[in-house]
Amino acid sequence: NGGGMENGGMMGRGSGQVEDLRNDSIAEGDKPLPIPPILEDENPDPDKAEFTLVAQKGSMEFLEGKVTDTFGYNGDYLGPVIRVKKGDDVSVKVRNELGEATTIHWHGLEVDGEDDGGPHSGIQPDTTWKPEFTIEQNAATLWYHPHLLHKTGEHVYKGLAGLFLIDDQESEKLDLPDEYGLNDIPLIVQDKQLDENGQFAYDLSMHDVMMGLQGDTIMVNGAINPYVEVPKGKVRFRLLNGSNARIYQFALSNGQEFYQIGTDGGLLEEPVKMDSLVLSSAERAELIIDFSEYEKGESVELTDQGMPFMKFVVSGEEKGPKEIPSQLVDIPEVDESIASRTREFVMSGMGRNVTINGKQMDMDRIDEQLKLHDTEIWEISNEGMGMMGNNMGMAHPFHGHGTQFLILDRDGNPPPANERGWKDTILVEPGEKVRAIATFDHKGLFMYHCHILEHEDAGMMGQFNVE
Ligand code: C2O
Ligand code: CU
Ligand code: CU
Repeated sequence: NGGGMENGGMMGRGSGQVEDLRNDSIAEGDKPLPIPPILEDENPDPDKAEFTLVAQKGSMEFLEGKVTDTFGYNGDYLGPVIRVKKGDDVSVKVRNELGEATTIHWHGLEVDGEDDGGPHSGIQPDTTWKPEFTIEQNAATLWYHPHLLHKTGEHVYKGLAGLFLIDDQESEKLDLPDEYGLNDIPLIVQDKQLDENGQFAYDLSMHDVMMGLQGDTIMVNGAINPYVEVPKGKVRFRLLNGSNARIYQFALSNGQEFYQIGTDGGLLEEPVKMDSLVLSSAERAELIIDFSEYEKGESVELTDQGMPFMKFVVSGEEKGPKEIPSQLVDIPEVDESIASRTREFVMSGMGRNVTINGKQMDMDRIDEQLKLHDTEIWEISNEGMGMMGNNMGMAHPFHGHGTQFLILDRDGNPPPANERGWKDTILVEPGEKVRAIATFDHKGLFMYHCHILEHEDAGMMGQFNVE
């Protein structure tokens, strides 16, 4: 086994009930879903939180008999869950033991530029970076990952990523499934390509640069084709598309409907019933799937475009709320008239020549100047392949740091119900124009970029300064 079980790496689930279910849905050799542990808060003060993360080299046995070299935080692959409350004063000691420079960025977190962990916050080998910030935003499922210029794709691909969860009083009052690992289950979905030696080969072909690196193997929390036992009841899943490039279309193998209750930056106003969910690189969704009609031992699979890649096996145990709350949180009515201006971002090009507003990333150039506390409309469009005209080319997930957006419209139409919540990553189809609104309450230098990591690394990124 991959050795990821120790040192705060990934923990397998208790196997107590697995015996009972084995004859039904779980076959010999099936792997239980690893559940990333919650990172210990080293500060006893309830309003303060202090964490230690070590970026390190590791190895995993994803394929039997083959050892894959990996990167991980506090373990061999991926990282523990940082869990904080709104209002907490947080500090994180991040030690780099990778033998090469990296950074760590809190994706979706509203903090000042100097704590954001972008490409200017390089952590040299054998040094420690210690950002400090206060949690000012609502309950949400965020994540963290490296952001070194030209290296983000490779570092994330090798395993550097973890979840960052925020709780608040409102979310705690809601009767939602909230037993971590039991009926509140994180799913970090990533596609990988393992070579004949079982290694993550990250040498990009032209095709990879073009489309972003896409692998033929889907992993969830670092396991291929895992199963997870779920209670007979309503179960919450926190999905992160932690892939370098792939856009998923998730559904259940039996066509069962589920509810989306949260977007990138928090809970929705009300649950949205759906039978499939598109999630692009870096987007998150909180879902509730109802297993109360299942018999003990029955199972259903999670699929991407019809291809199953993990299995939910229902245990006999009943747990959690009987009903899903019909009202979740308040999302403010957006008043466009408070925006001080509209700013345009045009994504175009292909291959290594992907650009935003015709430019590629330059660390020494500030592309946009913003005023602190201003509200702005960002009009994000995808030109497709430029000269070949609209509707050709590929979709790009646009991400802005340091704030959360509300989508005003897509090509002039109101966003679908499951996008009427806080977003930090917005998928824009070729030929499409999306308008989103945000308030910039944190000062400093921030990035906006395509979250296809091979596009970001090729230069599909710019910098905005808030002061
Ligand atoms: Cu998820 Cu600029 O990053
Ligand atoms: Cu980010
Ligand atoms: Cu892109």
